[in-house]
Amino acid sequence: MAKKILVATEKPFAGEAVEKIRTICSEAGYEFILLEKYPDHSDLVNAVKDVNALIIRSDKVTREVLDNAAALEIVVRAGAGYDNVDCAAATSNNIVVMNTPGQNSNAVAELAFGMMVYMARGQFNGKPGTELKGKKLGIHAFGNVGVNVARIAQGFGMEVVAYDPYVPEDAIKEHGVTPLDSVEEMYKTCDYISLHLPSIPETQRFVNRKLLSIMKKGATLINTARKEVVCEDGILEVLAAREDLKYASDIMPVKYEEMQEKLGNRVYSTPKKMGAQTKEANVNAGVAAIIQIKDFFEKGDTTFQVNK
Ligand code: 3PG
Repeated sequence: MAKKILVATEKPFAGEAVEKIRTICSEAGYEFILLEKYPDHSDLVNAVKDVNALIIRSDKVTREVLDNAAALEIVVRAGAGYDNVDCAAATSNNIVVMNTPGQNSNAVAELAFGMMVYMARGQFNGKPGTELKGKKLGIHAFGNVGVNVARIAQGFGMEVVAYDPYVPEDAIKEHGVTPLDSVEEMYKTCDYISLHLPSIPETQRFVNRKLLSIMKKGATLINTARKEVVCEDGILEVLAAREDLKYASDIMPVKYEEMQEKLGNRVYSTPKKMGAQTKEANVNAGVAAIIQIKDFFEKGDTTFQVNK
């Protein structure tokens, strides 16, 4: 019987990405099923019933979803962060979970710069702003997105440093970036700090009041990572006390209204996570996802498995 592949994306891929996935499915003899912009989690729970593979974005793949998917063998998160998948539940159901590392990282990095320029120019309010050239940028976590951020920053003429205790110093230096061994030093000395931490137990509210309060005068914090890695109350409190600091986020803060009331145009959030929302990133991540599924079904390839 033909394998059934469900693409379930509450926030849809660009049409070109969907068509490419559909074509690869049909050439491989798989049945392609599409569930987009679904209004409720229960729609996903119902849709997975008899599928063999699932491609998602930030869609929440809970235990309920996985327990309801008796034929499911593999879930591929078309993107980097897989904090939206209950990996323990997948493992206990014998389901492989993969991500597609690096496929959307340039898109996220470009958005980080869009946000830096937007904040440096007072949210385009017509008043004099500042430039990125000559400023110091701190990259907090130097993975695939961090590498792209470094490359673009060099084009802007910024000085670039990075803090990532999990990446060897030489691997950071290779990109013309100065590695720091103290996160405090980064927050104390950088004009811009760009967050690229995954949301894992060790990083929950990592950017806390203490780090925020030592930020350099006039600095801007850019979050295109996850809302869980910052302490939102800390941002509210520290930015209310320090009128020189700014915060821009690609993940709507829970207290965004209160932030806007108290902090005015020193705070900004996209209405919906936009980092990976480009045609190129959707094609890259979506095609990588279906190829990984094909390689898994046809060759047993588990290279990108994250729930080992
Ligand atoms: C990721 O982890 O890959 C990014 O946050 C993109 O997420 P999205 O696919 O929900 O836009």
